[in-house]
Amino acid sequence: MSVESPDKSAWWESAVIYEIAPISFQDSNGDGKGDLAGLISRIDYLKWLGVDAVWLTPIYKSPFRDLGYDISDYCAIDPAFGSLEDFDRLLAALHGKGVRLILDLVPNHTANDHAWFAESSSSRNSAKADWYIWADAAENGGPPNNWLSRFGGSGWEWCEARRQYYYHSFLVEQPDLNWRNPQLRAAIADVMRFWLERGVDGFRVDASAVLIKDALMRDNPAKPDAEGKPPPQRQTPVFTDDRPETMDCIEFIRSVIDEYPERMLCGEVQGKTDRIGHFYGNDKPRLHLPLNFALLDSQWDALSLQATIDAYFNAIPEQAWPVWVIGGHDKQRVASRIGEAQMRVLAMLLMTLRGTPFLFMGDEIGRKRVPIPSERVRDPFEKLVPGYGLCRDPERAPMRWDDSPDGGFTTGQPWLPQERPDGAANIATQRRDERSILALFRALMALRREHACLRRGAYEPLRSQNDVLAYKRTDRGSGFLIALNIAAEPRKYHWQGRGRLLISTHLDRPPEPLPDASILLRGNEGVIIAIEAR
Ligand code: GLC
Repeated sequence: MSVESPDKSAWWESAVIYEIAPISFQDSNGDGKGDLAGLISRIDYLKWLGVDAVWLTPIYKSPFRDLGYDISDYCAIDPAFGSLEDFDRLLAALHGKGVRLILDLVPNHTANDHAWFAESSSSRNSAKADWYIWADAAENGGPPNNWLSRFGGSGWEWCEARRQYYYHSFLVEQPDLNWRNPQLRAAIADVMRFWLERGVDGFRVDASAVLIKDALMRDNPAKPDAEGKPPPQRQTPVFTDDRPETMDCIEFIRSVIDEYPERMLCGEVQGKTDRIGHFYGNDKPRLHLPLNFALLDSQWDALSLQATIDAYFNAIPEQAWPVWVIGGHDKQRVASRIGEAQMRVLAMLLMTLRGTPFLFMGDEIGRKRVPIPSERVRDPFEKLVPGYGLCRDPERAPMRWDDSPDGGFTTGQPWLPQERPDGAANIATQRRDERSILALFRALMALRREHACLRRGAYEPLRSQNDVLAYKRTDRGSGFLIALNIAAEPRKYHWQGRGRLLISTHLDRPPEPLPDASILLRGNEGVIIAIEAR
């Protein structure tokens, strides 16, 4: 199988996209929380690294119960981050360096202190009465049905003023908006236009697969294999998640994006690879880039990775542009699972696969999960559904810019603890080390920029064997062969043709012609070989 390049290319098809949780990136005022002024001071680093676009987790006004995914005002910057003027400065500074800015769009729910909810919950006759999901009690006075909140317990909360329940997919303090209501849709469109007019380059749509819930409010069935799963995952969410009507909402959101040239829509979608193709749309376009976490979910061996990559390419429509994500604010750090040596292999895989790479701040230094003492836990997921390893704080800990105790992140008390400085990955130390994983990420990103074939060339799988995952990226016969040793021991890799070794994940082999068509890969080594047309 090979995937051909479409004729025209958009900026996001060539971009490397870097996710930032601004609260943990750089503090500028000593309050222990990152802010926009801090972020501005780190743009030079992003540029040095070779990032083309940043996606910021929410920076809007919020009580911050859920990392800002509980929004009180969609068109205001939270004072902890700065002001709208700071935002405009940030955008201008990023654009001045050629870096694009993607914001998080959270259309599924607001915070319960949002003015829309105050009005909606005040009475059944209010102007916004139908902007959220309201339902009468069941006959016994209890919740209308068995739907659960992802953060534990019933998804329904009683409201005395209306004598009705409202639905919340997540926290009680995050009521779900009613996407069947055209006025609500129009209001979200206006929110998008507010930021698009200011010049943002696109949005990442949060929880896009759950925007519509079943109109009949039918009960979700129990999962057959529920045992041992966290309580909210013991149902099959057929009537709350991934409803066909949701696609219409995504098409609507896309139509707003398309009012403006060159803007991109990516989005959090349903987990399974076989569903991901839907989110691109057929006759009507949906997301440009549905986020694909398959590499994170894959077992870490050559055959599983080969199968994972193949299954994904098979699941997306022919003209769809692929996406590969290796980290995120909801995802456990992959370096903790596969180890430092294989993290370098993953860097090479990510930067040489066909599709847009997404990484999360800190992935470029191979950052691992940061242990968070129980008394410092902030994530509501862990507080409400404890004991299942669901805590997301270990990935959200503040950046380590250097080896000082505060990591160069803050002069105050950081909102979440960092690792101890000794031996922990940090940017300054790795910048000085020309063989660090940071140096590797940077070199691979530079290669990608330099060679159109690595960005746009066809993907040609080779048969992976002997623990070596291998494929080609080609353009009219010439191009690159990538061979990745997923094992910790040396492996010989044979191929046919002539080539020149360009780079090794170890960063210790100079570019050199390869005398015969085989190479001895050291343990955990990946290489890119430039190959000539036969
Ligand atoms: C999305 C966010 C996640 C958040 C949830 C509820 O899934 O990625 O961080 O907890 O929405 O707001």
